[in-house]
This record gives sequence, C-alpha cells and structure tokens, in this order.
Amino acid sequence: MNAVDITGLTYNYDDGTEALKEIHLKIEKNKKTAILGSNGSGKTTLIYHLNGIFLPQQGQITVMGYPLKKENISKIRQMVGLLFDNPDNQLFSTTVFNDIAFGPRNLKLSEEEVLSRTLSAMKRVNIEVLKDKPPYNLSLGQKKKVAIAGLLAMEPEMMVCDEPFSGLDPYSTGQMVEILNDLNSKGATLILSTHDVNLAFTWADQVIIMKEGKVLAAGEVELLTDRELMLQAFLEVPMLAEIFKGTGFKPRNAEEAVDVIKFYIQKV
Ligand SMILES: Nc1ncnc2c1ncn2[C@@H]1O[C@H](COP(=O)(O)OP(=O)(O)O)[C@@H](O)[C@H]1O
Ligand SMILES: [Mg+2]
Repeated sequence: MNAVDITGLTYNYDDGTEALKEIHLKIEKNKKTAILGSNGSGKTTLIYHLNGIFLPQQGQITVMGYPLKKENISKIRQMVGLLFDNPDNQLFSTTVFNDIAFGPRNLKLSEEEVLSRTLSAMKRVNIEVLKDKPPYNLSLGQKKKVAIAGLLAMEPEMMVCDEPFSGLDPYSTGQMVEILNDLNSKGATLILSTHDVNLAFTWADQVIIMKEGKVLAAGEVELLTDRELMLQAFLEVPMLAEIFKGTGFKPRNAEEAVDVIKFYIQKV
C-alpha cells in the first residue's frame, strides 16, 4: 500500500486560479519525499489535500488506504500530521503547553497520557523552557518548534510539512531535519515541500517536481541533476551535483563529498 495515491486531481480556487491540473501521483510509505517547485507551483494546494483541509474537486486521493472524503477525515487526521507553512495558522492556545496538549486531549486520552506525550514532545524539540509562554510572543523558529511538538504528541504515522525550513537559521534547520529523520527512522512517512534543491538533494529518498499546477516529474533524487528539467521547473541543479558533474562520483552530502576529495588528494 502506498501512503498516498492521487489520480486526476484538479483544484481551482474561487477566483478561477487553476492551482492543480490533473495530477497523478504515488507517494511511498516510510520514505522521505520532497515536493519541489517555484513559488505558486501548487505545493501548498497539494499539501492541503493530504489531510483533508481541501477535498478533491475532481479526481481521487487515497491517504494511508482511506479514500479522502468527509467521513474519513477524522481517521486520516489521526494518522497524518500537517505542519503549516505559517505556524500562526496552527497555534492558538494561551500557553505552549496547552497548545501541544490540545491534540492528545482531543483524542480523549487520559490526562496522564496527555501529560506524558506533551512533556516528551517538548523535550524532543528542546522547548521545555517555553512551556508557560504564550505562543504568539515567540520567534518564528520557536513557533515552528511548538507546532511540530504538537504534531509529535499525536504520534503520527505520516507527517506532511509545508516549507518547514523557511525562515529558520541553519542551526534550527539542522535540528528540524534531525527531528524529522528521527521520526522517519521509527517508521513514519515524511513529505515536505521546499524550494531548497540542495536540502532536498541531501535529504530526500524521492522527489516530486511541480510547475504551474502540474507534476513535471516524480521519482529518484537523481532527477534533480537533470539540468533541462530543473530549468523548466525554474529551479537550479543542486550545488554538489554541479561540482562533481562528469567525475563519475555522486556525493549526496558534505561527508560523501569530503571522502571523494580525500580520495583524489591521496592519488596526487
Ligand atoms: N486562496 C487562494 N485564492 C486564489 N488563488 C490562490 C489561493 N491560494 C493560492 N492561490 C494560487 O494558486 C496557485 C498555487 O499556489 P500554492 O499552492 O500556494 O503554491 P506554492 O505553495 O507552490 O507556492 C498560485 O497561482 C497561487 O497564487
Ligand atoms: Mg506554498
């Protein structure tokens, strides 16, 4: 079973904007999938369909085996956590603690279980000191961490993150990657949108490249090294692919690149 199956998905906004045009997609379970595309290519609109914020106007979507329709939304939302691009859309309680506890409380878990899940989620993202603060006073990075802690407390099987690194400094981005990877190593399916090709190249197992509401290509990360495809999508070839082009080596991260360079240095 795939995590997501989409056939013929089309979505038009009220003002007539055709945000998604006849999309067909399969997203595998337990993988890390990056959705890439320039501004306005339809990433957020697609992501809003993955836990039922939007229902298909045309076409079909199956999420974790459940057809996306009204009667399945609550079941799907228990399995799929969605991190909004803007954390202000997600945080509404008077304290960080209550915000994170909201989801587990909503699941009607015992107060003991709510407490344990909330504390462990706060610890995981290192925000225990913010526990009693009102979320609206926090910095963007802190807000994103609170929002992700709220999702972790729900123990989702699948996490969908819309531009999770936008506005974060490099250290916070690293922390966010670590949190997501940790979740994936425990079996969760991860889907994130980004226009950062370098990050996607290093991080993803699979990529989906979008342009003007269509899926231009989907598959292995190698797709990102296809210059023509990237140009067509208004994206760039990842820097590592650019540097090692034609060498026969295909390092996907800094450590692998260092190994290749050391190998050459030892030869001369
Ligand atoms: N609420 C809205 N009303 C009308 N058009 C919208 C709305 N939200 C997004 N769009 C348009 O839909 C298209 C896809 O947008 P979006 O999914 O947000 O792209 P991305 O996340 O890739 O930047 C864009 O042309 C955008 O202007
Ligand atoms: Mg977007």
